[in-house]
Amino acid sequence: MTVKNKKILIIIGGGIAAYKSLDLIRLLKKNNNEVKTILTKSGREFITPLSVSTLAKSKTFENIFDKDSEVEIDHITLSRWADLIIVLPTTANFMTKISQGKAEDLATTVILASNKDILLVPAMNVRMWIHKATQQNVKVLKDYGYLFIGPDKGEMACGEYGEGKMSSPRQIFSFINKYFNKKNIVKKKNLKALVTAGPTKEYLDPVRYISNDSSGKQGYEIAEALSRLGIKTTLITGPSNLISKKDIKTKKIITANEMFEEVKKCLPVDIAICAAAVSDFKPVKKNKAKIKKNNVKFKSIELEKNKDILEFLSKNNKHRPNLVIGFAAETENLSSNAFSKLKEKNCDLIIANDISKKDSGLNSDYNRVSIIDGSGKIKVIRKNKKSFIANTIAEIVLDKILTNDRSFN
Ligand code: CTP
Repeated sequence: MTVKNKKILIIIGGGIAAYKSLDLIRLLKKNNNEVKTILTKSGREFITPLSVSTLAKSKTFENIFDKDSEVEIDHITLSRWADLIIVLPTTANFMTKISQGKAEDLATTVILASNKDILLVPAMNVRMWIHKATQQNVKVLKDYGYLFIGPDKGEMACGEYGEGKMSSPRQIFSFINKYFNKKNIVKKKNLKALVTAGPTKEYLDPVRYISNDSSGKQGYEIAEALSRLGIKTTLITGPSNLISKKDIKTKKIITANEMFEEVKKCLPVDIAICAAAVSDFKPVKKNKAKIKKNNVKFKSIELEKNKDILEFLSKNNKHRPNLVIGFAAETENLSSNAFSKLKEKNCDLIIANDISKKDSGLNSDYNRVSIIDGSGKIKVIRKNKKSFIANTIAEIVLDKILTNDRSFN
């Protein structure tokens, strides 16, 4: 379906490809969308505000301290107005600015103040694009949740050939269509997800417990990424210092049993992702008073198994979520151990994370994971920030739900 009646804010950057923004404006207007534009100072070197305004049929904003435009519409209102913000062309310099959170002109201020998705459309010389500094910025911006289209390979305005050519207005228009169609489907389907996160604490007495090093970060990031896609998300979390975003319904628990009870209350859901490091065992008895060291009865602790939440969800006859995903933290035989867990517990996908390395995994901002499907096919996501990994997982989840396909082909 072709996108219409959307509010698109286009920020026109300073590159030779700036003239292509006019074609995109024309395509969007032709399909009855509202377009507002910001022309950066360097963008003005390539195209004029008059041509932009004529096609957009609205005033072109240029300066942050422009009294007229700030009275008419300030930078906050401008970013709240839009359904989607597009930066076209996104230059290497512009990426550096926004990856550092600069707010030095109208365009960068709108972006920093934005609560909307922002689509970056890079265009630059191939050397500039493949430079480590630019690639580092791309990594940071993807981690912040910016969307990207392109660049493509091709002949450039400077005469060189390679990656750095801006996607065409048609490609961008088709990306925008897909973006809004996906959002519409999620909204229409009223998708709901539950995510478990963090450790659990199983108390021996009022002050001592069995637990683990999980920070909850990967689960919190996944909940956030799902919620950003428009999926109604409930996060059921063990003790963690993290704060979840306010549009995520968050239930705080301490023990595995409490987590299990909250999960049951949350059903039915479409998607369940068990990222919690649930304690497999709990003490059979919790002593009411603090256990004294000379108490002869406490030479050993009798343990019993906790209910397996992932297995309960995957094998649930009445309310099995459409898609159930587990985690497997492994120090050795990563894929084979994880695959055995997938089979044992009957989940659709399992995310194996390698916790043998000190620089990622439990209690780290980074992770390295392999996602395994029911036929054993593996998709590897190399070491990256947990937020980046969460965004990738959320995209895969949405794709699997919308296509009803549980495998990696
Ligand atoms: N899990 C769960 N409820 C439990 C235990 C685990 O939901 N009581 C989930 C975790 O959230 C994770 C997956 O099961 O998604 C991990 O499987 P598990 O076999 O428990 O992994 P380990 O505890 O690492 O098992 P082992 O120590 O045998 O490797």
